[in-house]
Formats: sequence, C-alpha cells, structure tokens
Amino acid sequence: MSLQSLLESRLATALGNAGIDPAIGIVTPAANAQFGDFQSNAAMVAAKSQKKNPRELATSILNYLQVEDLCEPPTVAGAGFINFKVLDSALSDAVNRVRNDACLGVTPVPHAKTIIIDFSSPNVAKPMHVGHIRSTILGDSLSRIARHLGHHVITDNHIGDWGTQFGKVIYGWKHLLNRDALYKSPIDELVRLYREVNALEEHDPVIKETVRGELVKLQQGDVENLEIWKQAVALSWKEFEHLYALLDITFDERLGESFYNDALEPLVDRLLAHEIARESEGAVCIFFPDIPALQEKPCLIRKSDGGFLYATTDLATLEYREKRWKADAVWYVTGSPQQLHFEQVFAAGRKMGIETDLRHIAFGSILGDDRKMMKTRSGENVELGGLLREAIERSLAVVEEKNPDLSKSQQEEVARIIGLGAVKYADLMQHRLTDYVFSWDKMLSFQGNTAPYLQNAYVRIRSIFRKAEAEGVEILPAPISISESAERALALQILKFGETLHAVLEDQRPNLLCLYLYELADTFHHFYEACPILKSEGGIRSSRMALAGVTSQVLKIGLGLLGIGVPERM
Ligand code: ARG
Repeated sequence: MSLQSLLESRLATALGNAGIDPAIGIVTPAANAQFGDFQSNAAMVAAKSQKKNPRELATSILNYLQVEDLCEPPTVAGAGFINFKVLDSALSDAVNRVRNDACLGVTPVPHAKTIIIDFSSPNVAKPMHVGHIRSTILGDSLSRIARHLGHHVITDNHIGDWGTQFGKVIYGWKHLLNRDALYKSPIDELVRLYREVNALEEHDPVIKETVRGELVKLQQGDVENLEIWKQAVALSWKEFEHLYALLDITFDERLGESFYNDALEPLVDRLLAHEIARESEGAVCIFFPDIPALQEKPCLIRKSDGGFLYATTDLATLEYREKRWKADAVWYVTGSPQQLHFEQVFAAGRKMGIETDLRHIAFGSILGDDRKMMKTRSGENVELGGLLREAIERSLAVVEEKNPDLSKSQQEEVARIIGLGAVKYADLMQHRLTDYVFSWDKMLSFQGNTAPYLQNAYVRIRSIFRKAEAEGVEILPAPISISESAERALALQILKFGETLHAVLEDQRPNLLCLYLYELADTFHHFYEACPILKSEGGIRSSRMALAGVTSQVLKIGLGLLGIGVPERM
C-alpha cells in the first residue's frame, strides 16, 4: 500500500471513530511543502455538512488519529486542513518498497474494465491531417496507461476506408493514374487523384455524374471497382503501417468503416421497425426530443437517396463492439470538431439500449506560427511522415554536435529516439483540449518541460552508474535511507507515480504524467546538486545510488507509458 493510501486508511478509521463518514477521508500530497508532505480537507468537508467549526472539528479528529509510526504529530492549519509530515524512517521504508517492487509502487485498478480505444483512424486517399497525428499519439499513450493499470484494452484503428472519396479515386485511377508515383508514394498519388478529380468535377457536370456512377458501382459490388478500392486501401495501409512502426504503435484491430457495410441496411431497418428511428422528408433520422441540446439536431442515418452516413457506421460499430467484446467503455480519440457527431451517436446508442460508458476523448488543434491550423508553406495539410523525418533530422544535427564520439549508427539511433520523443511529448504535455503552437525549437530544447530534458535526466543517471562501475566504486546492498531535504523531496516525488497514473485515466489526460515526470527530473537535479553521490561514502553513497536508480526506472517506465523511449547516452 502506498504511503498516501496508508495515511488515508488511518484517517478513515479516525473519522469512523469520531462519528464522521470515513469516505470523505481523502489525503493528497501537500499543496505547500512548508506545511508538511500530505494533507486532508476532511474536517472542512465534514464541518460543512455538520455546520461545525472546521478547525475545531479537525482538532477533535486528531485525537482519534493513530499515525505515530508514519509521521510527526499531525497539525491543523489554515481553514481546517490536517497536515502530515512523514517521518524519515517511514519515507525510507516506503521508497524501499517501491525500489523492491517490479511495478514501482503502481497498484492495478480494483475492477479491471474492458475498454475499446478507437484512435488514429486516418482516411484512405485523403490527407492525414494534424488531428490524426494527435489522435495517434494521445490514443497510444492512453492505451498503454490503461493496460499498465490492469484494464483489458482493445485498440481499434477505425480507418476511413469507405466513403464518397472513392468515387473520385476510382475515376482518377481509371483516367489519370501514374503507376510509378503510386508505388513510390501511394497516399500522395491517391490524394493527387482525389484533388484533381475534385477540381475537374467542379467545372464539368458530366464528369461529376460519372464520378457518382463509379461510387454507386463500387457500392453495388462491381468487380473492377472493388479491385481498385482494395488496392487503394492496401497500399495506403502499407504506408500507414510504416508510420506506426516508426512510432512504435500497434493496434489489436483494424476494423475500418468498410467492415460494417453489410450491417448498415439491416441496422436501419431494425431501428425503423423498433421505432427508434423514423422517416422524415424521405430520410431516416433518430430524434431526441428529451435531450435539450439535441432537440433540433436529429441523428441522420439514411439519406433520402438511400445512402448511409458516418453516424450509421458508428452505430453499427458500436453494436459490434458491444456484442463481440461486451465492452465496459469505448473511448473515441477524435478532435473536438466531432463533438456533435459523438453526442448524437451516444444518445442514439442509449436509445438502442447500449449501456456502455461512451466517451469522446476530444482534443484541440496544432497551430502554426500564425496561430492558425498548422499547414505546410504551400498551404497543404502537414504530412505525418515528413514531420517525423524532419524531427529525426533535426535531432541528428544536435546529437552529432553534442556527441561526436558516438558511431554514426549510434547517433542515428539516439536521434530517432529524441526526435520521435520530442514530437510525442510536445503533444502530450498539453492539456488535450487546448490548441498549441508547434515549435521545433521548443520541443527539441534540452531545457524546460521537453522530452529531451527528461531523456537527458535518465541518461545522466545512467552515466553515474557507468562511472561508478568504471571506477570500481563499491555499492553496498544497503537500503535507501532518507535524511536530507533534497532526498525527502525526491523520495516523495517517486512515491507519487502510482497516484499520478490513476489520475491520468480519470479524465484521460496524459499531460498529468508529463508534468509528473518533469517534476521528477527537476527534483532529481536538485538532489544531484545538493547531495553528492559518488563523492559520498559507504551506506550514504549506496543509498543515494539506489535512490537515483529508482528515479531512472520511474523515468524510463513513465516515458514508456507516453510511448517515448530513452537512449542510454545522448
Ligand atoms: N476517420 C475519422 C476522421 O478522420 C475518424 C474516425 C473516428 N472514429 C470513429 N469511430 N468515428 O475524422
């Protein structure tokens, strides 16, 4: 049990004995280290409902509180906070437990859930936009953290492999295809076809009609068009896969929109038969008269021309997931502009009797220097592959300068870890709902809240260990023993790891983990300056080495949960 939960259970007992609801006994790390290490506002909460003076109530709770083995006598401060200052001995015990725990003090969730995480989901033959980049990075990190805490996670890449874009692509494929370009860079070529046909259509109603005809033929199962579609999807997927491999991201499932094709018509028929949906001006809609925000916004599931929509596919997908996995929750990691779509789909899902906890994990945009949606110089969507290549190239320049002694291949490997880490971290460190300005200089800086800064903290610790080994420094199998204030601060920060991960999953915010790791690295640097490691001796040296060792483990595992690697040197 973590120190924080230990204090919490003692407090709960005291509250119970004082005739107060033990459930309000929440303990958190102290907001201000001046008052102690942990605090609780339980007395203030209880005083409110009992209409009592919170400070007096706090003082009377102290009479029941038995924590002599863990802290100095608790004190009451401010409006009625109960403050705990942990004893060096208890802190040492706690951090030794983390050190000897393969999970670094992270406890699994008490009730594991089956969570489907729907993320990345780019569209075939349409440019991947920055929204897909954020979804990919955010979804991957959330999947890793949810799994790490013991949930049963299924990641599903719901690619847009069926849609009106294929009318244009098939027309383009038949009339304008450049095969060399297609094999060299399939997505670029497909996007070119899509754009050219789009432009042609605008001025030529005959072409527009033919394009529509190609789409209808595809939907009706025309062999030639299906073959073109299949190739377009396969070639695009190959390119996506290459990017995912570079990013070290995998999916359990890749059930794109096309997978649900055959389910759409029967679904709409069933919803009509059950009167969940009804016809309106030739189209089929689900209405929500009892949801104020959606009263004027029904969910359209079949157009008057018989075509199905994005929402229809999402409802079929939801049913499928429900049946196949009995999911407790589905998380859709998709940008904020799709908020209404998901509100409608979730409301429709509930009308269909689906009780799964459905969440739209929305996020803001990545902006360019001009604070508008990030675009390339020529005004196009930023292509993920190019972005990642640039990140690695820029990192390579830095590594070559800082580390001329590494071999070329080592430099390249380190540059890859730094470059990809920088891009991922710059995204994850932001509150997901805020827009942020993309800046190479900032994300690749070795100072401040950046991936290279954290990776560097890890590398620095590893180099202490290498140096100790090279110099034959004797490391005793001694336990960690905390006494200096910089040691205390570092130990307390290490102990927060588990709680931080749980907090991340509460509202799906990996930025809390980023902040935690940044503070860990910072606390380590203070410790490193204040407490000599290799220059100290005996048990103290061994204890500090061990403390540094745990820090490096937490950094490595923590960054790993963000999908970010660590080099051994940089
Ligand atoms: N392909 C969609 C897009 O690019 C995202 C899909 C998100 N997932 C879902 N089940 N709707 O906007």
